Amino acid sequence: MGVLSGKEVVLGVTGGIAAYKACEIVRELRKESANVRVILTASGAQFITPLSLQTLSKNPVVMDLFNLISESEIGHISLAQRANLVMIAPATANIIGKIRSGIADDMLSTVVMATNAPVLLAPAMNAQMYASAAVRENLSVLRERGFHFVEPDEGELACGTVGPGRLADGGKIMEMARIVLSEKPLAGRKVVVSAGPTAEHLDPVRFLSNRASGKMGFAMARTACRFGASVTLVSGPTSLPDPPFLRTVRVRTAEEMFTAVTRAAEDADAVVMCAAVADFRAKGAAPRKIKKEGFDYRVELAPTVDILESLGKNKGSRALVGFAAETDDLARNAVEKMRRKNLDAIVANDVSRTDIGFESDNNEVRIFFPDGEVRDLPLCTKDGIAVGVWLALDGKLFRR
Ligand SMILES: Cc1cc2nc3c(=O)[nH]c(=O)nc-3n(C[C@H](O)[C@H](O)[C@H](O)COP(=O)(O)O)c2cc1C
Repeated sequence: MGVLSGKEVVLGVTGGIAAYKACEIVRELRKESANVRVILTASGAQFITPLSLQTLSKNPVVMDLFNLISESEIGHISLAQRANLVMIAPATANIIGKIRSGIADDMLSTVVMATNAPVLLAPAMNAQMYASAAVRENLSVLRERGFHFVEPDEGELACGTVGPGRLADGGKIMEMARIVLSEKPLAGRKVVVSAGPTAEHLDPVRFLSNRASGKMGFAMARTACRFGASVTLVSGPTSLPDPPFLRTVRVRTAEEMFTAVTRAAEDADAVVMCAAVADFRAKGAAPRKIKKEGFDYRVELAPTVDILESLGKNKGSRALVGFAAETDDLARNAVEKMRRKNLDAIVANDVSRTDIGFESDNNEVRIFFPDGEVRDLPLCTKDGIAVGVWLALDGKLFRR
């Protein structure tokens, strides 16, 4: 079950060209089983019809503060009090100014003033408007008051200008909603997560790698970020986009991953090595493409740097957690690896199964600790597994 599941989300839609993108946000919220109540401003209704938002949200769209029927069915105070989250996307310069100044002259500004729920604003406007002294000051005051923001993206705007002002990508807005509503067991912690495979070059076009997709490591990084940690994700080559609101360092080889993880680990509280680092590399990769003609089909291999072992030898006060992908004798191999590499926990999964592990969106894992405790996390999404792993690590490792 995701963070937004069962949550009451009030979505304010204001009068900008990007109002049509609110439809996609409503759909995403519904997909995650949130109950969505849309408040559409009078200007917003110039850009998008209440019917579209009502059909997608499966709730009546509220527009008028003084409407007798909607006020009797779900009044403005009840709407404000029931909300777990108030989002405004897109947020015009006008609504931002009204909220900052304490103006409550329509349904949306009144609900924002009457709510105790966190408020998340996704501004969208012309670049000059966004750069104006009034908007800058309003945003900075609201930030100090604890309002949450998703900064607009840069690019070509509907008005023809180029610059920051385009409504942030819907995925980013959704992720900020999850961050705002998540509990924060890792607040103040710095964590490093590695993900994906590494690629060890045979020549400039060929490499040795493995089937890791990076999905489990990315889920671990995203979840740590939602839980309040400052996260560095060190990723080998994957097709996954950089997750928003955390630092991603892209690497290719085990050697590059070693350098990036070691550097990021210096001031970290925990390092979680989720990456499937290649065990072998070609001894002396060819500087030019190897030609088929005249090739004797033999490649001499050498071991890659053992990142976990090196981190285990210089652990300091950091928690060090490994992942183990096993096909046989899962428990014995995982526990043996944990001891050999001086880990504080190991998360093991059976990669011989086709329904979990590599490339799959799901996983099922066993977490082993050096004191003999074992926690089993049953089959669920990798995001769900990541929640379970962080909560288990938090209870065992960070509260000692
Ligand atoms: C075609 C058009 C596009 C507009 N786009 C934006 C916009 O992207 N951002 C913005 O802050 N205002 C925009 N405005 C101005 C707002 O619609 C106007 O300030 C309005 O009062 C906002 O009301 P509301 O905040 O209650 O929705 C636009 C106006 C027009 C006519």
